[in-house]
Amino acid sequence: MTVADFDMPYPQYRCPSCAKDLPLGEARMTIMCSEHFPGGEIDFEVREARPADRKAIEEICDRALGEIEIDAFDRTYDITAGINLIAEVDGKLAGLLSMAVTCGDLVIVLLSVYPEHQGRSVGSALLKAAIAYAGSRGLPLVRVAVSNDDIPLLYFYQRHGFTIYDIAIGRLVDDSGSAAAGFSGILSRDEIHLRRPVCDTR
Ligand SMILES: CC(C)(COP(=O)(O)OP(=O)(O)OC[C@H]1O[C@@H](n2cnc3c(N)ncnc32)[C@H](O)[C@@H]1OP(=O)(O)O)[C@@H](O)C(=O)NCCC(=O)NCCS
Repeated sequence: MTVADFDMPYPQYRCPSCAKDLPLGEARMTIMCSEHFPGGEIDFEVREARPADRKAIEEICDRALGEIEIDAFDRTYDITAGINLIAEVDGKLAGLLSMAVTCGDLVIVLLSVYPEHQGRSVGSALLKAAIAYAGSRGLPLVRVAVSNDDIPLLYFYQRHGFTIYDIAIGRLVDDSGSAAAGFSGILSRDEIHLRRPVCDTR
């Protein structure tokens, strides 16, 4: 097995202390009390994407992943062919949630919010809209695959009631032939599968 650099040129996160935009490998975790977590209100709208949004969708995919095709749950999803929800701030795309119906469940293929809009409930609103979409179509479960290094997404989904039900050990290495350095330089090796019933009875 080799170790590959996952050289993403674009920032995925923003430092809450100095506002520097951070590529994935430079980002670090910190623990703080909920009272002091930086955030704040922002006006945004969540809606289903239209054909005219395609260019903006391709751009956020490129910035988040460097591609528009995503491997998850043993298949390849084309984001531009998916069911896409977007969040807009001042008429510009701030975040994307791409989903698909697979084996009778709603699968979240990609969720990405631009760094300048993170921590202001945009991701949560997109996720709630996806869960409502599943409910309106009678789909019982929402599933998502997260790589082992992506601690912010593992936190985010578990905070929203998702639980881990399977881990595809080594799947990411098997797919690409090498272990890429992901969030904070942690090696991406395993695909962690989480799910949440649409009717969450917690
Ligand atoms: C994970 C992500 C989708 C969350 O979206 P968001 O709009 O920032 O989320 P919200 O504002 O709704 O906040 C949800 C939770 O995440 C926390 N959060 C958001 N940004 C955070 C940050 N930078 N650091 C720590 N926690 C953060 C919020 O405090 C909140 O926690 P709480 O429920 O305990 O209060 C977003 O941070 C993101 O897109 N990250 C980049 C992912 C990416 O593109 N990766 C590339 C490879 S896939």
